[in-house]
Amino acid sequence: MAQDAITVTPTDGACGALIEGVDLTQQLSAETVQAIRQAWLEHHVVVFPKQDISDDDLERFSLLMGDFAGDPYLPTIEGRDHIVELRRGANEQAPIFAEAWHTDWSFGENPPAATILHGITIPPQGGNTGFINQHKALAEMPPELRQRLEGKNALHSAKAAYAPDGLYGEREKDSDRAMKIIYSEDANKVQAHPIIRKHPETGEETLFGCFGYIIGIEGMEGDEEIQLLSDLYNWQTREEFQYSHRWEPGMVVMWDNRSVLHRANGGYEGYERVLHRTVVR
Ligand SMILES: [Fe+2]
Repeated sequence: MAQDAITVTPTDGACGALIEGVDLTQQLSAETVQAIRQAWLEHHVVVFPKQDISDDDLERFSLLMGDFAGDPYLPTIEGRDHIVELRRGANEQAPIFAEAWHTDWSFGENPPAATILHGITIPPQGGNTGFINQHKALAEMPPELRQRLEGKNALHSAKAAYAPDGLYGEREKDSDRAMKIIYSEDANKVQAHPIIRKHPETGEETLFGCFGYIIGIEGMEGDEEIQLLSDLYNWQTREEFQYSHRWEPGMVVMWDNRSVLHRANGGYEGYERVLHRTVVR
C-alpha cells in the first residue's frame, strides 16, 4: 500500500478522525509516522479501520509513537511485556470495566501520552468507547467557572478503583470478571496535577482529568471542594464535547490521554469482546 496515500477524515463528533491509506503491518516511512502524529495531536483520537495486525505489529506501531509506559494493576498477556488484554465474556455479570470517565493512569507522576487499542473480537452492537475533548471543554467554559479553577491542582489517586477496598479490589473476589485486575495498597498514593494545563507537545491549554481518579483539590476542603469538583465534572462531560466511537473488528484506535477523557460502554450482553492495548509515553 502506498504510504503517501494517507487520508485523514474528521468524525462528526467533537474530536476524532479516521486515518486511511496506511497499513500497520508494514514498516512506515518517517513522513507517514509524522502525518499520523500530526493528525493525532490535531484530532486527539485517531481511528485506523481494517487493520489485520498481530501483537508484533501492535508493539512495533506503538514504539513509533513513544516508549512503553507500563500498566499498573493490569497484568500483561502471556509472552508479552507491554500488551494488556481487555476481555469481557459473553455472559459476564461483573460491572463493565472502566465505565466511568477518566484519563488513563492520571494518578501517576508521568501519565501515558497515548493509549492504543486493537479491536479483535467486537460485538455486533454496543461497546462504544466514549471520548470527550478537553481542549474544547476548556475553551468554551464559562469564565466564572474557569476563574475558580485557575491555578488549582487536582489530587489524583487510583484508590477508588484499585485499592483493596476499591471498585476492583477485594469485593470482586467471587466475581466472574474475565479480565484479571491486580489491586494493591499502592493505589492509595496521591499525585497532584494542574487542572488547567498546557498540553506538553502542542502547548494548547486543556483540562486534565476528572472526578473519579481526581479525589480532591489541593488546598480546598468540604462543600467548597465538592462543589467545584462537581461543577468541573458537569461542564467537562457535556454532550457537545463528545465523540462516541463505534468499533469494527480490526480497528486500531489511538487517543491522546492529555487531551481527552474516555470511558467504556456496555450494551453487548451475550457477546464476547476482546481488545489488545498498549500505553506509551
Ligand atoms: Fe481507560
